Amino acid sequence: MSSSHLIAPHGGTLVNRIVDAGKASELKATAASLPTITLSAKQACDLEMIAIGAFSPLTGFVGKADFKGICTNMRLADGTVWPIPITLAVDNDVKATLKEGGQAALKHADGTLLAVIDVKEIYPHDKKLEIPKVFRTEDAAHPGVKAIMDEGDWLVGGPIHVITVTPEREPGEQFTKYRKTPAETRKMFEQRGWKTVSAFQTRNPIHRAHEYLCKCAQEITDGLLIHPLVGETKPGDIPADVRMDCYRTIIENYFVDERTLLTVMPAAMRYAGPREAVQHALIRQNYGISHFIVGRDHAGVGDYYGTYDAQNIFDEFKDGEIAIEILKFEHAAWSHKAQGMVSGKTFPKIQGDQVFLSGTKVRDLLAQGERPPAEFSRPEVADVLIKWATSESTVGAGA
Ligand code: ADX
Repeated sequence: MSSSHLIAPHGGTLVNRIVDAGKASELKATAASLPTITLSAKQACDLEMIAIGAFSPLTGFVGKADFKGICTNMRLADGTVWPIPITLAVDNDVKATLKEGGQAALKHADGTLLAVIDVKEIYPHDKKLEIPKVFRTEDAAHPGVKAIMDEGDWLVGGPIHVITVTPEREPGEQFTKYRKTPAETRKMFEQRGWKTVSAFQTRNPIHRAHEYLCKCAQEITDGLLIHPLVGETKPGDIPADVRMDCYRTIIENYFVDERTLLTVMPAAMRYAGPREAVQHALIRQNYGISHFIVGRDHAGVGDYYGTYDAQNIFDEFKDGEIAIEILKFEHAAWSHKAQGMVSGKTFPKIQGDQVFLSGTKVRDLLAQGERPPAEFSRPEVADVLIKWATSESTVGAGA
């Protein structure tokens, strides 16, 4: 047993599916004669998450019993809480090349060999079960639903043996140094003497409400990990490299270095609202996080979910089933009268008092080179976004 003061990983053991150099060359030789599965961007993100232990206790893509348990009652077949099936979907043509009991080479779209999977099971992809359970809607306009609908009709389950997870890294390697595995973040927390750590999940540039949540959490725990999701997101979301500039800028200007860390999480976004909030929490537990921030419409998209559905879902679990503590925040905004950030819990609602801006409004302002009000976004962050929104390549791309 480790002597760490940090929270134990979900399921008890931190998984590591990355093989050593000797095993890697063996696998490369075997893979040459194996059937190939070329991974989608989402599947490549999932592979990395499994490989580094961020999806502990999963050691591979889920089999049939786990798939059914996850969809129907948010638990693996052994009863461990798990809210979203991590699947390897393939189409009929690829399925025809595979055999249960055999192996397959998992490749990046650029042809790089990433891993080998032990093909334990090949089973029909029950989208009719998965979609309404996971997303609470069957609307094809929902980006997560659409992603599943477009996937293959067969699922391949089995443990993976991973050779590499980042064949291309990011263009220009802007945030390679922020790619820390759960084992690495745990070490970083220990080096800083942090016993309790809160984490902030985000897929957006940090605005004042985000900052407020982070600061409240910092009053409670020894440290804060700003932990943006940098895996696949939907078109229209702000690119990860631009967001990273925003995070660095706000930390530099408005946070205490010794109490704040920035690393990235390579997961793909599902936009599954409540179920994804549970998944985001369990992932953070694996990274060594004790307290996880869940605010308004966490991981939501459009108006598929109620404002606090992603908080209420945690009430569906028994005591002790989820070890990480959830820090639940009400919708926060700047109040002119209070001259500070408030929520419905801390300040009375007064007509017209609070600063609310829609995403579209913010986009329009930025594209015109204008900063949103300082009550909404720190000027330094606004300037990073203006630079991006008015750059030729962004304007040319119609963003
Ligand atoms: S998310 O997809 O990662 O949830 P986003 O980056 O916008 O999207 O949100 C990050 C976190 O901040 C989530 O926990 C979300 O619920 C919370 N949040 C965002 N805006 C607000 C707000 N105005 N008030 C309270 N919580 C918020």
